[in-house]
Amino acid sequence: MASITSDIGNQSGTLPKAAQPDAPTQEPMIWVNGQMMPKSQASVSVFDHGLLYGDGIFEGIRVYNGKIFKLQQHMDRLYECADKIFLDIGVSREEMIKIQRQCVQANNITNGYIRLVVTRGEGSLGLNPYQCPKAGVICIADTIALFKPEMYEKGMRVVLANRPKTPIECLDPRVKTLNYLNNIMAKVEAIHLSKELGITKPEDQLLEVIMLSTDGKVSEGSGDNIFIIKDGKVFTPPSEVGILEGITRRFVKDELCPMLGLEVEEKLFTIDEVYDADEVFLTGSAAEMIAVREVLTHDNLKHTGTHTISEGEGPITNALRTKFREIVTSDDVPED
Ligand SMILES: Cc1ncc(COP(=O)(O)O)c(C=O)c1O
Repeated sequence: MASITSDIGNQSGTLPKAAQPDAPTQEPMIWVNGQMMPKSQASVSVFDHGLLYGDGIFEGIRVYNGKIFKLQQHMDRLYECADKIFLDIGVSREEMIKIQRQCVQANNITNGYIRLVVTRGEGSLGLNPYQCPKAGVICIADTIALFKPEMYEKGMRVVLANRPKTPIECLDPRVKTLNYLNNIMAKVEAIHLSKELGITKPEDQLLEVIMLSTDGKVSEGSGDNIFIIKDGKVFTPPSEVGILEGITRRFVKDELCPMLGLEVEEKLFTIDEVYDADEVFLTGSAAEMIAVREVLTHDNLKHTGTHTISEGEGPITNALRTKFREIVTSDDVPED
């Protein structure tokens, strides 16, 4: 972690107590609107439309072995999403890459996670984005552990959300905007059901959901994409159903599956096909790859059923996850 140095220097004993130099701390350094600053001082305006309206976009990116995993694809998505919401980031792609490397270095991150946030910037209290003259850019480099290690080994239990995914015509989930309430409220269903059922074992906790489109097709999790495996073949929903086109999803689909000789197909499927699958897993930059062993259903937090997919992580998911780990722990972590 970064330490903060004081220009007072090493004059211990010569200054009154209040003027002593700060002891070096482990405080994280955050990039905010053109400046690197300690976490305790990092802030944005209360008039920023990112805060007032969730008007902005973001990326969550893994750092493996000091390399920024799939950096170029994350940059493609960030700038494409900016175009889709008519947001001028005001920082070039090259500069954005430099900011991320600087944050990774300043915080001594070898294996961690970057959160890049671009807000509409400071404006007036009205919705009009054109009254925000300059986008805000925030970069955080930190560590992350989304789920307990036991869950990766045994597979996790997830909940079928009652709440459907925002339809593509309302707000296209392919745009990674700061509006995550649809996903948060779905995830809260799982957390509340976990509490309702009195689940205490870490590996049994309900922390993720499967969300359906308004016409009942499987879309994705609250923060990850979904794959099912049936008779040795791998399936994932197409982006038209209303999902974020995950970069980990693409890595699994276009690189890992072919490496293992697995056939992959994008197709629409129902929750019954999930129940009937041999294996199910989720992918995401934060979640990485994690098996789903059970799907619980509920009606307004009344538990209505449990569908067992597999006893633990299935063999194909395990082979894919092993390959995944092999690549991200190698000296050759791909940035493109
Ligand atoms: C809703 C949603 N779907 C899928 C993903 C996975 O995307 P990626 O693999 O690019 O992290 C995320 C990641 O943040 C997400 O928020």
